[in-house]
Amino acid sequence: TKQKLWGGRFTGKTDPLMHAFNQSLAYDQKMHAADIRGSIAYAKGLTRVGILTEAEEAEIIAGLQAVGKEWKDGTFKPAPDDEDIHTANERRLTELIGPLGGKLHTGRSRNDQVATDMRLWLLEEIRQVEIGLRGLIRVMVERADKEKDYLMPGYTHLQRGQPIRWSHLLLSHAFSFKNDLERLQQLIPRISVLPLGSGALAGNPFVVDREFLAKELGFQSVAENSLWGVADRDFIVEFLMWSTLAMTHVSRMAEDLIIYSTAEFGFVTLSDAYSTGSSMMPQKKNPDSLELLRGKSGRIFGNMAGFVMTLKGLPSTYNKDLQEDKEPLFDALVNVSMSFQIAEGVIATLDVHPERMRQALTMDVLATDLADYLVRKGIPFRETHHISGRAVALAESKKCQLNELTFADFQNLSDKFTEDVHGVFDFEASVERRQAIGGPSRKMVDRQIAVLREALDK
Ligand code: ARG
Repeated sequence: TKQKLWGGRFTGKTDPLMHAFNQSLAYDQKMHAADIRGSIAYAKGLTRVGILTEAEEAEIIAGLQAVGKEWKDGTFKPAPDDEDIHTANERRLTELIGPLGGKLHTGRSRNDQVATDMRLWLLEEIRQVEIGLRGLIRVMVERADKEKDYLMPGYTHLQRGQPIRWSHLLLSHAFSFKNDLERLQQLIPRISVLPLGSGALAGNPFVVDREFLAKELGFQSVAENSLWGVADRDFIVEFLMWSTLAMTHVSRMAEDLIIYSTAEFGFVTLSDAYSTGSSMMPQKKNPDSLELLRGKSGRIFGNMAGFVMTLKGLPSTYNKDLQEDKEPLFDALVNVSMSFQIAEGVIATLDVHPERMRQALTMDVLATDLADYLVRKGIPFRETHHISGRAVALAESKKCQLNELTFADFQNLSDKFTEDVHGVFDFEASVERRQAIGGPSRKMVDRQIAVLREALDK
């Protein structure tokens, strides 16, 4: 009968449910390529300190490559006793090349091995996440550039506030994503730290050259403390926190678009490609894509919170609790990547209705501009705010729009009003007055687009 890798001191058998409970191969096989890469580098490291001859190294590397190929081809056959990707690969290597395979784990533990694999794997995956995020930003910027003419109300408290450009709103979300892009890049130096050579906890007695290992595997630095090297999972927490924040941004944008796609707003229509119907109500076209984007943000937060709970209360170094790092991380990666792609698709195919946006622009959203008009005539803003408020109330009581008040009405409110007051009631002019950096004027929208394009080119 087969022996477990660690079976030497055991006489009793593992309870079958315990075996299943302990098993991580079902999900950590995702890291098969990283595990093989790490082992190849380690074999080279062992040769350099005389544990392996060059011939042995070559044989081990060829064996590892054969195992890796089986994974790639989908022909790798897990054995019942394979606990995780590390034991599975070592078992298969030894089947292929015989007892020599047993030399590979000299001075190494699954503790430094798994930490190395996780970091290698995450570094690879982050590149894809970054590509997805860049794609999303790119589509938003292109759309904003094309639709600068569309004016709409900007909202606070979901109440109409002031006129803005539709592009200005789109770009506001793009700026959150730009920060996410920068934050993602800032995680890399703390992920790119090599644990290999930390052993189980107390370092490597064969004095394997860890700087060599780092170079072989493309790590930026080497874990300086072996206890920390096997224990640290902060890089996973950081990625999960990053994911949580990025998804919060996705969710906020989704929520805007859900509201704007209602019949009541009618600012946008989702393409059929990203909508679904109702099994009962034939007329329905539901924004399921956006709702899932909003919903996923909760799940990703849950992954983060759950794993921080796992870490809390652990003593030093490796504890099996740490195996629980994988599913939340893998799940976050799959869902964040998919979310960026879906969000990109939604934005790229969205139907935008500028006439509906325009209809929502009622004259009251120029009340601030009316107050500003009097400011320019020398009245303190606190007073002009009050006067403009009274104009709004008067229009309400006369059941007319703000611009339909008579010149006499305005004069009654303040003798500083002159005939040119009617110039205030122009949405385009209002937006164009906002020429300070960050405003919705055409020039400032162009500036935002330039800033974002520059970030994308980096
Ligand atoms: N599958 C384990 C994990 O994911 C690998 C490390 C096992 N180490 C140990 N000492 N049991 O954490």
